[in-house]
Amino acid sequence: MMADLQNAASAQDWEQLDGDTRYLTHSLHRYSGKFIPQIAGQAIDLISAPGELVLDPYTGSGTSLLEAALSGRHSIGIDLNPLACVIAKVKTTPIAPERLDDFRQRLEQSVRSLNGLQLELSGLTGTESPRLAVESDPRWTEPSFVKWFPDERRRELVLINQLIQTEPASDLRRVGWIAFSEILRQSSMANTSYPNVMYDRRKTPPRSAIPRFLRRLVEVCDAVAQLHEKLPDEMTPTVLQASACSLPLEDESIDAIVTHPPYIGSIPYAEYGVLSLMWLGVDPRAVDAVLTGGRRQSRHVVTRFQADFAETFHQCYRVLRRDRHLAMLLGSPTVRGERIDLPAMAQELARSCGFVLEGLVKRKGGNRRANLMAEETLLFFRRPA
Ligand SMILES: C[S@@+](CC[C@H](N)C(=O)[O-])C[C@H]1O[C@@H](n2cnc3c(N)ncnc32)[C@H](O)[C@@H]1O
Repeated sequence: MMADLQNAASAQDWEQLDGDTRYLTHSLHRYSGKFIPQIAGQAIDLISAPGELVLDPYTGSGTSLLEAALSGRHSIGIDLNPLACVIAKVKTTPIAPERLDDFRQRLEQSVRSLNGLQLELSGLTGTESPRLAVESDPRWTEPSFVKWFPDERRRELVLINQLIQTEPASDLRRVGWIAFSEILRQSSMANTSYPNVMYDRRKTPPRSAIPRFLRRLVEVCDAVAQLHEKLPDEMTPTVLQASACSLPLEDESIDAIVTHPPYIGSIPYAEYGVLSLMWLGVDPRAVDAVLTGGRRQSRHVVTRFQADFAETFHQCYRVLRRDRHLAMLLGSPTVRGERIDLPAMAQELARSCGFVLEGLVKRKGGNRRANLMAEETLLFFRRPA
């Protein structure tokens, strides 16, 4: 068994130097530290069969979920970051093109009527006038929104967001919101170079958010419409906002686990997603406080990470069926000046809760279209029979 999985894994191309990372809905919304889709797909193929149930307990933007669904696996994605959960849902939920078209046209029409803020919006936002609609929205006066979004942009964004929220169907509302979330950075006073979100005093105030939103809405709807041809509805993954340290899943209910844990604090998800989280009504500091590897400035970040990571292994062991596999992609981040050997940490923690290492491959990480990571290690563990 050991030799089989190791040989099968070694025979795969894990570099994917020219792999297209943007097909279908994979590039719907920015998210740092994403899986290269082919890596997730190959790992899923190696350790599961069509019709089985795959779990990703650190699902992020849902790359593994989309790959699982495309290869006929059911899947569950868990993430504590509410932004990740919205992206993952939109990325993996097929919607009939006619419903999408109808939604897009209705939203386009109402957003276009905001152009120049002609203040003739009765009936669109459900309030008497756009002025009232804007001024009664807490985001209009909330200091963090005032800081990041100049008045004219904030006014437009408040109204666009309100229009999106009037959509009764949650799947369509999420599609609109993902397009909205993607334009926040450019519509704010944040620097435009990714990924850190920093206030840029010298930035030319952003132009109207309306054309930008309308363009992005078309792109998102087009990508989601393609999903409908590829995925039957019953393959739609389940996405849960929960912790990898206490999985809301039954014992021995999962056929395979494919995941890509956080790089301790080197990708601060709450900081990078601050603008979107604010519009979701979530305090980014509260998200950061609960993430594995969160509060990256604290002295004990590595110790806290290790404790959470140990708990994740226990949880994965508990929910995985016997004689089945967990595949995990890891890098070795530098934290507070010290390089942490995450693959070594993972092997020790996995062994201590009963997993057996069955495969190990390294990749240099040179894909031109993906996040540039230094060497990464893919580990395959088996829960014994
Ligand atoms: C490396 S990213 C995964 C990216 C994902 N593979 C993708 O393609 O988008 C790690 C993820 O773990 C999430 N995370 C951190 N701590 C968590 C926890 N305790 N429970 C669940 N998710 C957590 C972060 O929010 C982040 O989305």
